[in-house]
Amino acid sequence: MKDELLELKTRALEELKSVTENPQLEEWRKRYLGRRGHLTLLLKRLPELSKGERPPIGKLANEAKEELSREFQSKLDSLSAREEDESFLDVTLPGRRTPRGHWHPITQTTEQICAIFSRLGFAVVEGPEVELDYYNFEALNMPKDHPARDMQDTFYISDNVVLRTHTSPMQIRVMEKQLPPVSIVAPGKVYRPDSDISHTPMFHQVEGLLVDKGVSFGDLKGTLTTFVHQMFDPDTKLRFRPGFFPFTEPSAEVDIQCVICKGEGCRTCSYTGWLEILGSGMVDPEVFKIVGYDPEDISGFAFGMGVERIAMLKSGVDDIRLFFENDIRFLRQF
Ligand code: FA5
Ligand code: MG
Repeated sequence: MKDELLELKTRALEELKSVTENPQLEEWRKRYLGRRGHLTLLLKRLPELSKGERPPIGKLANEAKEELSREFQSKLDSLSAREEDESFLDVTLPGRRTPRGHWHPITQTTEQICAIFSRLGFAVVEGPEVELDYYNFEALNMPKDHPARDMQDTFYISDNVVLRTHTSPMQIRVMEKQLPPVSIVAPGKVYRPDSDISHTPMFHQVEGLLVDKGVSFGDLKGTLTTFVHQMFDPDTKLRFRPGFFPFTEPSAEVDIQCVICKGEGCRTCSYTGWLEILGSGMVDPEVFKIVGYDPEDISGFAFGMGVERIAMLKSGVDDIRLFFENDIRFLRQF
């Protein structure tokens, strides 16, 4: 049995030398060291030996087992080291692109709008989406039974708490805290129970407010014209159309020439050639009184624009709902 044992060991080591792949190595391990492997079966025959023969052969067998296990381990190590080396060195493998997200188109547009106004000297401020009735309506010259409240359908949280229907409450929040001069823009989410191809129940606005001595309607026109020309083409046509808001007097809505049909008339502009992008006006003296400003001393203008509307015009998207479906194929285009 001693000869058998030595021969087995020599054969095993010889075979191990020619092993070059992991599966082959596993085969080898099973063949010699496995539960039904040659060496294991040989060890099982030890009790057949006489008492005197048993200890020396047993010792030899254990040594052989240890040696084979050791050699197996070192082969395993060298194979996996080689594998790592190879994948590290294989410069012909195509690179793996790390998937990278980007800002949502509405966030991008909001940033662009705010950047233009920042360059014009406006500070960017933010405020709550869950708003007191006082800021959303009352202080904007819309007392409880004012018919103008019907202009904007409202989500009520309770009798005097609403989801803000526009960013205009930020005008009051800012003026309450600081004295003139004021020049701010306030981006954020607003909510109205509205839903169709150009309306969603949640959308975004950017509010603007400028208050100082001697601010005129000319300043409003100049500022908004500069904005439109920087946001769109420098030769985009725009028009100031008389409008009504309880918190501005006079008020104007600004339309730009439809960027889809260039004014020819199409589905997007309801065949008028024009698209409304914002509401604006001179701050109503009543609003100044509410925040403790003296309307005899100062004047100001304000505006509120729809971010989705502007994003749609800039990128030719004709259904506002696409922005909120989170279809990755749509979002990847921005
Ligand atoms: C207002 O919200 C006024 N607060 C704007 C304002 C501010 C006037 C300061 C004067 C001074 P209006 O409801 O028209 O106005 O909304 C302003 C813009 O928001 C619209 O021109 C339009 O671009 C966008 N908008 C309105 N409703 C929706 C809606 N449901 N979905 C998407 N965009 C909307
Ligand atoms: Mg409007």
